Amino acid sequence: MLFVCLGNICRSPLAEGVFAKALAERGLSGAIRVDSAGTGGWHVGEPPDPRSVQVGLDNGVDIRALRGRQLAAQDYRDFDWIVAMDGDNYRTAVSRAPKGAKASVVRYTDFVPGAEGSDVPDPYYGGPDGFQRVYDLLCSGVPRLLAAVEGEAPTA
Ligand code: 4NP
Repeated sequence: MLFVCLGNICRSPLAEGVFAKALAERGLSGAIRVDSAGTGGWHVGEPPDPRSVQVGLDNGVDIRALRGRQLAAQDYRDFDWIVAMDGDNYRTAVSRAPKGAKASVVRYTDFVPGAEGSDVPDPYYGGPDGFQRVYDLLCSGVPRLLAAVEGEAPTA
């Protein structure tokens, strides 16, 4: 499961942290690969935005060790799911799919009951409230995300 946003410093690292925690709580950490990337390359090598780090820590999700990277062709072979945060990210990810891609490119809100087709809004230029709203929306998608990867995890 690869989460993709624009900069890979606000939304997708938080999505990665939220989903990694949900997997860990179910003993699935080693079974499902989780990562995040940006369609843009401006923040490659940088840690997540301090506002995403803070809302994570406030909710028991530590994303401080993550570093930004850009979506790459190999990702379409390495991952079954590429999960885009908004419509722009989605269209970019679809348009960059190489031949032989195995990944399904989908939108995060496809996993959020009642919010299908909408965006996880970019909080970069707003205040801290926006980050909490992003966090809450990300959490709402966890049950369906877990269901999507259930078939991939070896059964105990
Ligand atoms: P993200 O937010 O896509 O959720 O990581 C952004 C981060 C940086 C920029 C835009 C959005 N930026 O323009 O640098």
